[in-house]
Amino acid sequence: MAGYSVDGTRLWSRLMDMAEIGATVNGGSHRLALSQDDEDGRELFLAWCANRGFTVVFDKIGNLFVRRAGRTPAAPAVAIGSHLDTQPMGGRFDGVLGVLAGLEVLETLEDLGVATEAPVEVAVWTNEEGARFQPAMMGSGVHCGVHPLAEALAVADASGIPVAQELERFGYDRGVEPGSHAIGSYLELHIEQGPILEQEGKSIGVVTGGQAIRWYSLDLRGEETHAGPMPMAMRRDPVRHLAAAAELVYRTGTADADARATIGRIETRPGSINAVPGELHLSVDLRHPDESVLEQMHGSLAEGIAQLNDAAEGVEISLEQIWHSPVVHFDAQLAAAVRSSAAARGYAARDMVSGAGHDAFHLAKAVPAAMVFVPCRGGISHNAQEFTAPEQAAAGANVLLDVTLQLAGAPAPPGTKA
Ligand code: GLV
Ligand code: MN
Ligand code: MN
Repeated sequence: MAGYSVDGTRLWSRLMDMAEIGATVNGGSHRLALSQDDEDGRELFLAWCANRGFTVVFDKIGNLFVRRAGRTPAAPAVAIGSHLDTQPMGGRFDGVLGVLAGLEVLETLEDLGVATEAPVEVAVWTNEEGARFQPAMMGSGVHCGVHPLAEALAVADASGIPVAQELERFGYDRGVEPGSHAIGSYLELHIEQGPILEQEGKSIGVVTGGQAIRWYSLDLRGEETHAGPMPMAMRRDPVRHLAAAAELVYRTGTADADARATIGRIETRPGSINAVPGELHLSVDLRHPDESVLEQMHGSLAEGIAQLNDAAEGVEISLEQIWHSPVVHFDAQLAAAVRSSAAARGYAARDMVSGAGHDAFHLAKAVPAAMVFVPCRGGISHNAQEFTAPEQAAAGANVLLDVTLQLAGAPAPPGTKA
């Protein structure tokens, strides 16, 4: 069914307009979840939706659902979604492409006057990135019942501001109960965030699943004191153990070629040039496509940290797991529909497993779900340099359009076989 196509120029211009909100000097975007910039981005998106007469429902965790009605109003909606929040000083495409390609599908159906049986929706999930509030994929997790709403509302950012306060500030507390807004199936387009499609000259990644992720807080506690008078031998300095702790984490990341280990954040407290820090906090992100290997990585890191703690006189070293996102398998039929669409349009495609976390991981536990990847230059993401070309973005949106038409039930385009 390759008869209809999206307007790639409109999609690109919307991507560039959205990137202006929270634009950074180095060409990226900075819209941390539930910040004023994030809200401004949502307002711009909703203005585009209102212009086309699409209706909006939001829930108490701030997820937005924009609907184009179907012929059968009671039919479960086909939802296309992703997120508009970004990493700190992040890129212009991570998440945003999926949301704006969803809007592009709705607008294309509207432009062409194509009636679908089921309603088609665009979902904007709150706090996918997990950079400001942990864990990541929060809004979709609450929607799917993985995280209780009350637990998510109580999460605070580094300056102590809770999720609930920001949701109230923007009026989301008046939304519907999370999960009460039903979705029948789910599609998400995303940049690959890795180098494979580009290296192989492919246009479309048929995402069959996602790797498992575990996040940790690695905390070292000693005693804060003056940098001058206190003799070295009398200090309880947690930073003395930083190199050994980091070495343990990175060794975990060499379990095999698919293993990943990252220390993304290192903070000392009080963080003053002339104070021996009393505390050292590290974030640790471990990933592996095989759940049992990730379990072994978890075990060896926990054991290594316990041994380090035993040997570290005067400093307490602890490792707390704060999030586990298990391995995900997407719906085989929907993945096949993505594959067929790419083949029918002549887009070179390959199957792949997602290295990054996505809202689709939660949705896949609740409804049939699939993801489509497009290349991203140099495999670079979570970086202002993140880039996918206009024709690549349009190709991904065309695949979304084809699969949406199939799921939502639409007449075959003129001149094509049904
Ligand atoms: C989400 O961006 C993740 O993979 O951490
Ligand atoms: Mn993303
Ligand atoms: Mn991201």
